[in-house]
Amino acid sequence: MEPDSQNTWIDVASADRLSDGQAIEVVVGEHIIAIFRDGDSLYAIDGLCAHQGGPVAKGELSQTDAGKTCVTCPWHGWQYELATGIQTVNRQPLQRTFPVREKDGRLEVQI
Ligand code: FES
Repeated sequence: MEPDSQNTWIDVASADRLSDGQAIEVVVGEHIIAIFRDGDSLYAIDGLCAHQGGPVAKGELSQTDAGKTCVTCPWHGWQYELATGIQTVNRQPLQRTFPVREKDGRLEVQI
């Protein structure tokens, strides 16, 4: 592991588990994190929806008119920008996001 600024990259899964347009849910300490792959981009966001704890990793991906990748929570349809965690209706950053990368066939996040 390399020290990267103050945070350490944490190995969470094999990158093979995450297909394009899909998500996986991983548990890191007390955090449940949804990791999405959209083309060449990876996103990591709080896996429990800020509304009532729905499973964000089971949500559908879509693009906003501005070209931002979003996920829609499967329980009641709240939608979040994956890069920022901003809820698209009230524009508040309700979901925490995490740095994520693919390295040597593994997915790594910083908490
Ligand atoms: S729990 Fe996600 S929209 Fe309600």
